[in-house]
Amino acid sequence: MKGLVFTEFLEFVETQMGADMVDAIIDDCELSTGGAYTAVGTYPFSELRDLLLAVVKRSGAEPGDLLRAFGHKLCSTFASGYGQYFDSAGSLFQLLASIDDHIHVEVRKLYPDAELPSMRIAGRSSDQMLLDYRSERGLEALAEGLIEATSNYYREPVTVSTTQMSDADGEFVRFTIDRKAA
Ligand code: HEM
Repeated sequence: MKGLVFTEFLEFVETQMGADMVDAIIDDCELSTGGAYTAVGTYPFSELRDLLLAVVKRSGAEPGDLLRAFGHKLCSTFASGYGQYFDSAGSLFQLLASIDDHIHVEVRKLYPDAELPSMRIAGRSSDQMLLDYRSERGLEALAEGLIEATSNYYREPVTVSTTQMSDADGEFVRFTIDRKAA
């Protein structure tokens, strides 16, 4: 997993819970880097999972709630660092449709070792989008936070619900994204 996700996660924990919490979870975990991540490096995903679980253990917060909140933070980072994708997409559904076809394709070109999910459109109308998330990392709560934050970014209010599904290719999570009536 890219170091950017680690550096953003530790910053998120610091903002939410303080620098002492960051020091404590770094002490709790066996990390290849001793906790010193650089944004362009690549590190085992297991370290992010361990850091998340250490926060859960110390704070009592739900892992899904933490990941969703972290999704909001990560979305602001993407919106300021990669604003061109948000500008050129111009709307929530267009941005979500461009993750698999465009955004993550460009990310993969920059970082061939990036571990990216698949985000496939399973249905789309003007008021609703069905978006299927598949990833070995099971970060659907992070994806949900990113979707919610992207909806806030464009000021297009939606409700997001999730369904666990499976097909011949394995398990996945379907997001049903409904536009709220104005
Ligand atoms: C400009 C917008 C975006 C950029 C630049 C971007 C880039 C990235 C990068 C660099 C990673 C880390 C890859 C790695 O750690 O190896 C990542 C992971 C991820 N991205 Fe995006 N992304 C964007 C938008 C989105 C949006 C809107 C979603 C919403 C669903 C999304 C879903 C995810 C998820 C869930 C992961 C975690 C990896 C996984 O679940 O397997 N991304 N993205």
